[in-house]
Amino acid sequence: MATPRHFLDLDGFSAQALTALLTTAAHHKAPRRPAAPPPLAGRILALLFQAQSTRTRISFAAAIGQLGGQGILLPRSELHLDRGETLADTAAAISCYVDAVLLRSTEQNFFDQFVAESRVPVINGLTEHSHPCQVLADLLTLRETFGDNWHAIRVAWLGPFNNMTRSYLHAAEQLGFALALSVPPALLPKTGTPDHALLTRVQTANPQITLCDSPEEAVTGAHALTTDTWHSLGDDATAHAKRVEQLQAWRVEESLFAQANPDAIFLHCLPAHRDEEVSAEVLDGARSRVWQQASNRLPTQKAILLWTMGSLDLPA
Ligand code: CP
Ligand code: NVA
Repeated sequence: MATPRHFLDLDGFSAQALTALLTTAAHHKAPRRPAAPPPLAGRILALLFQAQSTRTRISFAAAIGQLGGQGILLPRSELHLDRGETLADTAAAISCYVDAVLLRSTEQNFFDQFVAESRVPVINGLTEHSHPCQVLADLLTLRETFGDNWHAIRVAWLGPFNNMTRSYLHAAEQLGFALALSVPPALLPKTGTPDHALLTRVQTANPQITLCDSPEEAVTGAHALTTDTWHSLGDDATAHAKRVEQLQAWRVEESLFAQANPDAIFLHCLPAHRDEEVSAEVLDGARSRVWQQASNRLPTQKAILLWTMGSLDLPA
């Protein structure tokens, strides 16, 4: 059996493949309903969620529907997993009925084992490690704003080192844009960890990926500022107060934004916490593109579905 077309991480796709996905997504932005015959008529997508989601599950359900297929929402609590059916049997059963699985899990082992057992493509709908579907939508937003001369674009990442950070690192490694990371020293990957190795690898591939000493250094010359919740799904809730203390100087406020390029935009994957990681003034301000970014989840999910379900080929 051929390996299914899993959509796991952006570093598994070449710059040419990412460009083809973005071009396909742009093509599917309007009109929302494709001309007949719908390219994924009769196809079924299972949406298996082990954690909360607003954008990911709704945009994927809408995307498969608009492409002519159907989505089945599967909250983990409604399967037999918690009454003793094994993960392997669950993945095998789901594979009997559907063409692909969108899986969100904050347990990395669960996710990896599901991928290993699934006989149909699995799409990473967010893990503790990465969030590639979201960053693909961010890339479309950047491309719509600044064009696709990636080497001329600088993105500043401000805040924790988390699943979004890693997907940005993967994207910058492949596309070559400058990525300036400003992360509190206590939250940076320690020497000897897989994240430290990832940083070394991506900086070797793209020397424009830099670690900055301050948020101000990161935003200088930046075309886009982006941040994320200080407390991700699956994080230890008891660590929240300490996180808030560690990240105070990383809140994105107008005074910081003013030090970026005059045409710089603000991005946030959402959900946002106003006046925690970003001021309401910036999030709701004229240079915020968060709703364009959220809207871009729909066409980018379509591109991902077309590829995973075999209706789109990508260059190597
Ligand atoms: N950005 C994002 O993935 O949002 P949800 O958690 O609402 O899916
Ligand atoms: N880092 C965030 C992203 C939410 C879309 C989280 O994992 O909760």
